[in-house]
Amino acid sequence: MAIPEVVKIVEVGPRDGLQNESGVIGGDVKAALIEQLADTGLSVVEAGAFVSPKWVPQMAGSGEVFSAIRRRSRVSYPVLVPNMKGFEAARAVGVEEVAVFGAASESFSQRNINCSILESLERFAPVVEAARSSGIRVRGYVSCVLGCPYEGDISPMAVAEVADRLFRMGCYEISLGDTIGTGTPLKARQMVETVATRVPVAHLAAHFHDTYGQALANLLAVMDMGIATVDSSVAGLGGCPYAKGASGNVATEDVVYMLSGMGVTTGVDLHRLVAVGKWISRELGRAPASKVGVAMGA
Ligand code: HMG
Ligand code: MG
Repeated sequence: MAIPEVVKIVEVGPRDGLQNESGVIGGDVKAALIEQLADTGLSVVEAGAFVSPKWVPQMAGSGEVFSAIRRRSRVSYPVLVPNMKGFEAARAVGVEEVAVFGAASESFSQRNINCSILESLERFAPVVEAARSSGIRVRGYVSCVLGCPYEGDISPMAVAEVADRLFRMGCYEISLGDTIGTGTPLKARQMVETVATRVPVAHLAAHFHDTYGQALANLLAVMDMGIATVDSSVAGLGGCPYAKGASGNVATEDVVYMLSGMGVTTGVDLHRLVAVGKWISRELGRAPASKVGVAMGA
């Protein structure tokens, strides 16, 4: 196997995780979660989403949360922005990295951001331009790369086209989202093979939800192709409000445990991470979805 020696983990729990919780979560809990995650050694902690509060009420107040956190200079705290309105609000509070989020499925694009794929790309272009001219880095997401909750199978070429457009627009990294976690390892490899004909593997990230319990296997399959950036969520928090039945991202604890067992460096202190997963699960009144978290945190 040719797994990279160093893997960057993008912790998405405070955004992808909390956006799907049904109860109200206070800004103080969100800020504490982000700070505690940064203290585990993670170098990227996604800190919120500047989206319409009518669409995703759980992300309301992301500006206040961002302003409240004690930021560490070695950590990046990206936030999601769907349009210029979100970007301006993010810039106003001093955000240094944003992420635009598109999809490889027309139906998902409509349900998630209320526009077609083409319209979304037209909407993202000025965001990327404004961000880059202010020195703000931009990440690009593509959802439904291994299946769509409304359309089923999605062709790898459709994924490659959106990934390519976002990359050429100026996104420094393209995160490939298996939004509903239906992918399996060979399918994941084939999808990455196709996308890599348009975007270099060094600029790709794997963002796999674990709905069908395939996420670790899929990660291993694509890391073997050189993908060295992995999105994951502490305690396996999360889902997607516009993807019914989708469970959380692969748990960060499980990814760190697997990689450390393979001698791969992540920079994350697993014991501290498990403690954070235990704490946030208790705060949210839910059972931790991380097997490693349960085994080590008991
Ligand atoms: P729209 O209704 O078409 O927008 O929604 P609009 O421009 O017509 O505006 C409607 C209202 O929203 C207006 O307010 C705007 O001001 C307001 P009103 O006049 O009615 O009071 N508005 C905003 N408010 C705050 N921040 C903004 C903003 N923009 C407009 N940025 C829109 C279009 C994109 C805004 C909406 O569909 C939306 O916010 N969608 C977000 C959906 C979302 O956050 N989904 C979850 C994240 S994606 C995900 O989880 C997948 C991922 O993890 C990868 C994977 O797993 O695949 C990334
Ligand atoms: Mg996601």
